[in-house]
Amino acid sequence: MIYLKNKEEIEKMRSAAQVVVEALRKMRENVVAGVSTWDLDRIAEDVAVSKGAKPAFKGYSSYPASVCFAVNSEVVHGIPSKKKVLKEGDIVGLDFGVLLDGFYGDSAITVPVGGISSQAEKLLKVTEESLMRGINEAKPGNRLYDISAAIQGHVEQEGFSVVRSFVGHGIGRKLHEDPQVPNFVPENGSNGKGIKLKPGMVIAIEPMVNVGRPDVKILNDGWTAVTVDGTLSAHFEHTVAVTENGPLVLTQ
Ligand code: MF3
Ligand code: CO
Repeated sequence: MIYLKNKEEIEKMRSAAQVVVEALRKMRENVVAGVSTWDLDRIAEDVAVSKGAKPAFKGYSSYPASVCFAVNSEVVHGIPSKKKVLKEGDIVGLDFGVLLDGFYGDSAITVPVGGISSQAEKLLKVTEESLMRGINEAKPGNRLYDISAAIQGHVEQEGFSVVRSFVGHGIGRKLHEDPQVPNFVPENGSNGKGIKLKPGMVIAIEPMVNVGRPDVKILNDGWTAVTVDGTLSAHFEHTVAVTENGPLVLTQ
């Protein structure tokens, strides 16, 4: 069941999304060698609380913190820790969501810690570009897998791979609503290019891209997803409304 949002609801979603933007901005400012993911988690939670918003991930499926981190070969869902201290040359994914006034916003960025390798630079660039290419397809008349194809096409063209085990999602009064938004075109999918995109659909598009193979595994903490081959991984996410005028990035 896909819930279409009216203009008023999309404006509320923008307000939630802007709290996420502010939290990501403040975390990014504080990403330096020596900072722990626990410190960054406090920063994001403080921003949310100061704006009257609730961190969306805390308690979701028993996730124990506000932000999901992903350092280097971690893909998503890394739990913050005082012992997880960032160092020069790392890349770190910051994934944050909030609930404000009945609606969710969700966004992620991956940022460098000081100077990083040229391969890591390319990974961040290609992953963010793939998100933007996907977003460009989020318009009425297109189909859902037009988004997926744009993301996958760019990533594979650049020699990287798209993670299959996690997908984007509809978002609104729930953090995860229909439809699922894969970053790859599903094979032997029964519905061709996917459902038709309509004004009022709001989706979180979130490519996870690996330098090597797409396979991931979950660590013993039950949460942290890492690449099986140990290569670097990056993640970018925006909450996007499909409107008559095309895609509207609420987490801009
Ligand atoms: N951005 C991720 C998602 O939309 C974060 C969810 S992690 C969880 O699925 F902790 F909330 F599960
Ligand atoms: Co999400």
